[in-house]
Amino acid sequence: MTEERPLKVVGFGGTLKASSTTLVSLRRVLSTCQRLGADTELVEAGSLALPIYDWGAQPTAEVERFAQIFHGADALVWASPLYHGTISGLFKNAIDWLEILRERSPPYLMDKPIGLIGIAGGGQALQVITSMEQIVRSLRAWTIPFVVPINRAADVFSSTGELKDERVIEQLEQLAAELLRSGKIFSNASSG
Ligand SMILES: Cc1cc2nc3c(=O)[nH]c(=O)nc-3n(C[C@H](O)[C@H](O)[C@H](O)COP(=O)(O)O)c2cc1C
Repeated sequence: MTEERPLKVVGFGGTLKASSTTLVSLRRVLSTCQRLGADTELVEAGSLALPIYDWGAQPTAEVERFAQIFHGADALVWASPLYHGTISGLFKNAIDWLEILRERSPPYLMDKPIGLIGIAGGGQALQVITSMEQIVRSLRAWTIPFVVPINRAADVFSSTGELKDERVIEQLEQLAAELLRSGKIFSNASSG
């Protein structure tokens, strides 16, 4: 019997805030994925030096590197804060650069499962998830059914960004397990 290679899970999101709650959540999901046997990579949106998306512009080396990490993933987990009712501009600008994957084989993020986390100061975190779901479909990927909308961030994270809500920690760990389960299904299907 051939040994299964570990799945590669890429986490993407976060903000420029020092104690970014979206980054903390992503880290929790990725560390759980790692514990469950996956290889992981975190792409911090705030650390990328991507230009504003410009159709027809030559992609910079950083744009290429960013898109390649996404293209090489078996599964992804995305996290964005709710900014004025939807995802942040930082998040969306990076995603727009994935347009350079249009002519790749497979194109865009075809048949990759994506786990979604949305975080809001108020009670509408599900709006982030809904916005991201539409993006996922446009990139020919699949959202996994289990999503984590985190409302009232100040009650869930300490002022220094630590997760203090056991129920949310459990949900993030469940998201990791479900993502790996979906990742295996998609990987097995593509290997025939
Ligand atoms: C520019 C801006 C816009 C925001 N808009 C909303 C909003 O429309 N609704 C809401 O519930 N929270 C809103 N928030 C709160 C953030 O969603 C919340 O603080 C989140 O935890 C920030 O993520 P971060 O800790 O990763 O930076 C906003 C915050 C900022 C800075």
